[in-house]
This record gives sequence, structure tokens and C-alpha cells, in this order.
Amino acid sequence: MAHDSTTLSRPPGARDDWTIDQDWNAYTQAEHDVWITLYERQRALLPGRACDPFLKGLDSLDLHRAGIPDFNRINEELKRLTGWTVVAVPGLVPDEVFFEHLANRRFPAGQFIRRADQLDYLQEPDVFHDVFGHVPMLTDPTFADYMQAYGQGGLRALGLGQLHNLARLYWYTVEFGLLETPEGLRIYGAGIVSSHAESIFALDDPSPNRLGFDLERTMRTPYRIDDFQQAYFVIPSLQALLDATLADFGALYVYLAGAKDIPIDAVLPSDKVFTRGTQAYARRGGRTAA
Ligand code: PHE
Ligand code: FE
Repeated sequence: MAHDSTTLSRPPGARDDWTIDQDWNAYTQAEHDVWITLYERQRALLPGRACDPFLKGLDSLDLHRAGIPDFNRINEELKRLTGWTVVAVPGLVPDEVFFEHLANRRFPAGQFIRRADQLDYLQEPDVFHDVFGHVPMLTDPTFADYMQAYGQGGLRALGLGQLHNLARLYWYTVEFGLLETPEGLRIYGAGIVSSHAESIFALDDPSPNRLGFDLERTMRTPYRIDDFQQAYFVIPSLQALLDATLADFGALYVYLAGAKDIPIDAVLPSDKVFTRGTQAYARRGGRTAA
């Protein structure tokens, strides 16, 4: 799930906290088939690409079955593992609503699924991105704690008017994060694992920079919402990510307010460089040139 700072109005039928019933019985066979197509394509691609906690989570929740998973079923197992639950929402939700859910270990997931002619790209997160992409990592106790802490931090940042930089942290970790392992780089970000093309690009393409994660650096780096990333940030472990974000961000926000953004394609002398990207893809014009 992504959140959105623009003014959204609550759709009719949604509760005060923007949740709706998943209404699992209302999905059509064509909709289940979209899930199955996407699921099988990613399941075949991700071994050796996605990190172990993701693959383990995917299996323990049994997200395959005969189509779009029933949230009630997922929640029995997820609750048992880490105390998280998935709740259905119509689409993007306002920042405050999103953080409030996360802070209470509820993950808001889009109820709808993309059409069969939109398998590779869509603007708003659907049930495949949200459930296949995000929910497996919520079975990992450390990542589960990180997501809750992010929700609490988001509520604070919102109160302080400092969401801008914090949103970059979410983007470069929860959505597009890479993990260093003895076997090589692995994906943990939901935006990558739910995308066939980016699951390849993020690891194999010579174009993007792959740089060591640094909290302040990440929060100073803008990101792409419309195309593959130009930089990916690599964490040494999920525990290191959680540890790096435990400190009070108050002083960091003050510093960031006066600090310049780092150009999206920059490699700094202080960066730990896994890949110095050619940026060839972005220079060619990215998706629009493809
Ligand atoms: N420690 C952060 C704060 O004081 C909260 C936070 C935790 C933010 C984890 C993001 C991720 O605001
Ligand atoms: Fe997402």
C-alpha cells in the first residue's frame, strides 16, 4: 500500500478508518485468473532473487491456492506469527489513516485487482501488489516491528510537518529495498517483488546505483514514482534497518530541513558502492523510450 498526501475523499461504503469488507465471494473467475497469472510468474522468478524471509513468508501464508487470497484465512496465520492483520481498503488512503493502521499492526490492502491488460504496470496499488508484495515480509518478526515503528514514526512526522523525508525512507526500504546476503543481493522491497520487470532490473541491470543504506542519505534522496529506480539502497540485515530507525528522528528532521537533496543518480565519496550504475536506462528516457 502506498499513501497519498493529496486530499482524498472517503468513498461511499468505507468505514471511518477507510476499511471495507474484502467481499471475497464477489471476485470473478477472471479476477482470480489475473492473480494466478501474476503469482506463477513471480513464484518462478523469485527464488535466488527475493530474500529468504520473503520466500518463507510466501510459503507459510500459502498465497497460491486458487486465486486471490481470502484475508480472513491469511489473517489466522499472520496473527499467529507476528500479530499483524490485513484489512481491505478501496485504494490509496490518506497518510494519517495509513499510519494509524500500521501503528496498530494492520496492513491496509487494496481490495481490487488490476485488469488482465495491466499486468505489468498500474498507478494505484492493487491486491496483488499489497498482498503478494507486502504481506510475506510481515511474517518476519523484525520486519513486522519495523513496519509498526514506521507507522508510529509517520504519525509523529505528520504532526511535525516532516513527512516529506520520512516518505523517502519508506520508499527506499519497504518498497524498493535490497538486502545483502552471503549469496549476493536479495530483494525485500514490495514494489520490486510484485513487479516482474523490476525484479530483474533491480538486481541485474547495469543502469541503477546500488548503494549501502544510510538513514540520512536515503532521506535526502528523491525517488521515481513512474519508472524503475535510479538508486537502490542495500541493508546489511533487517535488524540493522530496525536498529537504524530506533533513535528519535527529531534532531534529524531539524537537520534535514536545512540540508539539500542529493541528486537521484549521485554516488557520493561516503557511499558504500555495490554497483556504480551507468544510468543508461534513465538517460535513454526510461519507460517512455521503451
Ligand atoms: N524513530 C522514529 C522517530 O522517532 C520512528 C521511526 C521508526 C520511523 C522506524 C521510521 C521507521 O520518529
Ligand atoms: Fe506498496
